[in-house]
Amino acid sequence: MIKIAVIGGDGVGPEVTEVGMNVMKAAAKITGLSYEAEKLDISGSRYLAQGGDPKKPSIPVITDEEIDSLRDYDAIYLGAVGHPSVAPGIIEQGLLLKLRFDLDQYVNLRPVKLLPGVTTPLAAKTSKEIDFVAVRENTEGLYCGQGGVMRKGTADEISTQIMISTRKGAERTIRYAFDTAVRRKAEGYRGEVTLIHKTNVLTHCGSTWMNAFVEIGDAEYPEIVRNYHHVDACCMYMVTKPELYDVIVVPNMFGDIITDLGAAISGGMGMAASGNLNPDPNTRSVSMFEPIHGSAPDIAGQGKANPIAAIMSMAMLLTETGRKLNDDTAIKTGDVIERAIAVVSAKFSGQPMDRLNATTDEIGHMVVEEIKERNL
Ligand code: IPM
Ligand code: MN
Repeated sequence: MIKIAVIGGDGVGPEVTEVGMNVMKAAAKITGLSYEAEKLDISGSRYLAQGGDPKKPSIPVITDEEIDSLRDYDAIYLGAVGHPSVAPGIIEQGLLLKLRFDLDQYVNLRPVKLLPGVTTPLAAKTSKEIDFVAVRENTEGLYCGQGGVMRKGTADEISTQIMISTRKGAERTIRYAFDTAVRRKAEGYRGEVTLIHKTNVLTHCGSTWMNAFVEIGDAEYPEIVRNYHHVDACCMYMVTKPELYDVIVVPNMFGDIITDLGAAISGGMGMAASGNLNPDPNTRSVSMFEPIHGSAPDIAGQGKANPIAAIMSMAMLLTETGRKLNDDTAIKTGDVIERAIAVVSAKFSGQPMDRLNATTDEIGHMVVEEIKERNL
C-alpha cells in the first residue's frame, strides 16, 4: 500500500498529473498495487487567492504544518508551479525549493534517455548513444540563498550569492550516484560515474567534491570506473558524444543547467521526468516526483500539453518508492508504465515531442490502452 500526495499546482500541472494518475490506476489494476491518493491544493494561484502579494513574499506559499503533514505520505506527485502574475522567485523559493530543502530531498534524479522513435536534434545519435542518468545535488550549492545586496539601486551596488558545499552533502549525493552505477552495471550498462564540476576555477568547492568522489570511490566502489569532466566540456560532449555518459554526479547549479540540455537532446521538455529524492528509508522524509517542464500558462487548459513527462515521473515515483520501501509490486507497476510509454512514444515517430499531434487526454488514453493490451 502506498500513499501519494498529489499537488497539481498551476498552469498545465493539474491536467498532466490527472493523466498520470489515470495511467497509474490502469497499471495498478494489472499489477495488484494498492494505493491511496489525495489531491492537495497548493499553488501560486492559491497564494494569490489567499491575498499573497504578487510582487514580494508576504504569506507562506506552503506552511510548515502542511510540509509536516506531507511526511505522512510515501511520495509526492507534483505537476508544475509558477503563476504569470506572481514575481519570479516567490513560488520557486516559497514552494519548490522549500519542499526540496525542508524535506531534505538531497538527490535530484534526472534520466536522459532517448526513447525509440523520439526525434533528437543530434544528427546520427540514437537511443543507444543517449541513455544516461544525472544525479544532481539538490539542497546546497548556489541554491542556499546565502549572500545579499548592499547599496542597492546605486552605482556602487554590491551583491553576493555564495556557493555552499558540505562534505556530507557531496558524500551522500556521490554515494547515491555510485549505487546507481552498481545497479545499472547489473542491468548491462557500463556502470561508470562521471563527476561534473569546474575544479580548475572553483578550487574550494571543487576539491570538497573531488576528494569525496575519489575517497568514496576507492574505498567503497573499487569496481566502478570514475571519470571527471569540467562542466563546460560536459556541455560540449553532451552534444557531440553523449555516449560518454552513464551516470553523472553534479552539484546543484551545474546540474540544473546540464539537465535542460539533457532534456533537449532526448525529446524536449514534454519528455523529461525527475525525482527529488531522499532515498533513506529511515528518515521521515518523503520524495517528490515532477516533470522538469514548468506550468506553461500560455497553453494551460487547452489539452495541448504533452503528459508523457508527467506519466514518466509517475513511473519513476513508483519505481523509486518501491525501492525505498522494498515493495516489488510498486517497482513492477513503474516498469509496466515505462514500457507502455516507450511503445506510445514510438507511435509519434518524427513529430517534435513538445508539439504532438494529439491532445493531453488522447496521449494518456494511448498509454492506458497499451498497458491494458499488453497485459491482458
Ligand atoms: C528545475 C527548475 C528549478 C531549479 C527552479 C524552478 C527553481 O529549474 O527544477 O530544474 O532551478 O531547480
Ligand atoms: Mn531547471
